[in-house]
Amino acid sequence: MTGSEWWRTAVIYQIYPRSFADSNGDGMGDLAGITSRLPALQDLGIDAIWLSPFYTSPQRDAGYDVADYCNVDPLFGTLDDFATLQATAHDLGIRVIVDIVPNHSSSDHPWFQAALAAGPGSEERGHYIFRDGKGVNGQLPPNNWESVFGGLAWTRVMEADGTPGQWYLHLFDSSQPDLDWQNPWVRAQFRDVLRFWLDRGADGFRVDVAHGMIKAAGLPDYTPPADGGSMGGRATALEPGVVAEPAATAPYWAQPGVHEIYRDWRLVLDEYPGDRILAAEAWVDPLSHVAEWVRPDEMHQAFNFAYLETLWGGPGLRRVIDDSLAAFSAVGAPSTWVLSNHDVVRHASRLALTGDNLQGHGIGPKTVGLPDTVVGLRRARAASALMLALPGSSYLYQGEELGLPEVVDLPDASREDPTWFRTNGERYGRDGCRVPLPWVASAPSYGFGPTAASWLPQPAIWGELARDVQEGVPTSTLELYKLALRLRREHDLGLGSVSWLNGLGDAVVAFTNGSVTVVANTGAASVTLPVGEVLLTSEPLTGRTLPGDTTAWLRA
Ligand code: NOJ
Repeated sequence: MTGSEWWRTAVIYQIYPRSFADSNGDGMGDLAGITSRLPALQDLGIDAIWLSPFYTSPQRDAGYDVADYCNVDPLFGTLDDFATLQATAHDLGIRVIVDIVPNHSSSDHPWFQAALAAGPGSEERGHYIFRDGKGVNGQLPPNNWESVFGGLAWTRVMEADGTPGQWYLHLFDSSQPDLDWQNPWVRAQFRDVLRFWLDRGADGFRVDVAHGMIKAAGLPDYTPPADGGSMGGRATALEPGVVAEPAATAPYWAQPGVHEIYRDWRLVLDEYPGDRILAAEAWVDPLSHVAEWVRPDEMHQAFNFAYLETLWGGPGLRRVIDDSLAAFSAVGAPSTWVLSNHDVVRHASRLALTGDNLQGHGIGPKTVGLPDTVVGLRRARAASALMLALPGSSYLYQGEELGLPEVVDLPDASREDPTWFRTNGERYGRDGCRVPLPWVASAPSYGFGPTAASWLPQPAIWGELARDVQEGVPTSTLELYKLALRLRREHDLGLGSVSWLNGLGDAVVAFTNGSVTVVANTGAASVTLPVGEVLLTSEPLTGRTLPGDTTAWLRA
């Protein structure tokens, strides 16, 4: 692997281990399955993979509930399997980023079990956020905070003498108690966790809930605006092109104290050779605020959720691209771009939703405004072609290169997302974007594993979208991604800049990036392409007419 600061331009492919590839036929993806499929990712043309958690976990939140930060859950394999994966990826020129989940552990973690056993006032309780309840008997929660997944953010424990006792904070599921990051002991543990994976060759960390680890002193009450409710608890969904005013900050998000944690982590990473990185999952508004996570002495990248949440349309996209480039470059960081991940409705469905949909709530049979799948796929291809032409670093989510839609009709009994349970089925949650991948159309479980087992049922459309039927078919989504990634590299688009081209109408997003001109038509009416050899189109062209919901790259 060559090149310094590789992450400034990298295309990073998110692997969701449960659903990528299953080597042993138990219906659950695993590390050996990932290793066996790495050549397909090399062929796709990505630079790095980010692995969602594969650590020891009771899987109450699909592994974002960690019971041992320094081991592999037997569901996914062993530390040796990780070493093999890591070595194979490096041999193929692919870097490996692992997930770190510092805001909370699993309630099964020995630290939490020790805290329960040790009782109120103990050093062990001080590792988490335990408080006495309000009311005469402490029967009311310490404040009014709500879990991102629905319901109260507090659970009351039974003390050793069998009486109801203190409450502990969990911004997510009750099986995910928040650690107390004001406690130096917690900080020391996580420095060790970082070193554990850095010593094993990890190229970096995607940091879960990177905006939530410090809570406001005194844990004051908070009343969110009525339309709140995204994964990160950000108060408002972004309107197309509207950069939201910072909402009254919740007392658990984006507290200034989080930054000193990352400055400390940065020092740890800098002890290691080879450009290791920290990437923030920080759901905050506006982008200039997100940029605080990537100041020169903090993290390297932050996810650009404002881009992900921008609806399909010219003015909004132009604005968010401008805002992103301005905000990140102001602190010397690359902009990142992302359209899908394991927490959001896949963009092949999301971009054609006709009703409101709050991030994290998911879609299902009763959702109003379900997408037209043909329109969704067409827009997704155009949107991906636009994103991959932008300067900076792009994140892909497994399966988007196949054009997979959100699976809308999962049987209720198969759902596993805690959101579904904590809202009594009011919010579908995120299972629909987590369905195991189709590799081979004619094989059991569509080639996900050697048997028909799949932890979530796969829909029949997986047969049409399987990787093997798309390989070598020039009009397939897979070949579109491969071409875009190859051209992006050849033309150094990751290092370039955006110079807007105007005059093609409001619905058209057009710019030149170095030697490539990009024209994305988000509207319904066709437009005529400017001069220049056509290098790529997301749909077939007739002459120089660019139809609606189509993106073209031209030689500038
Ligand atoms: C963000 C992760 O991406 C999501 O999947 C998880 O449920 C929450 N953080 C809690 O860890």
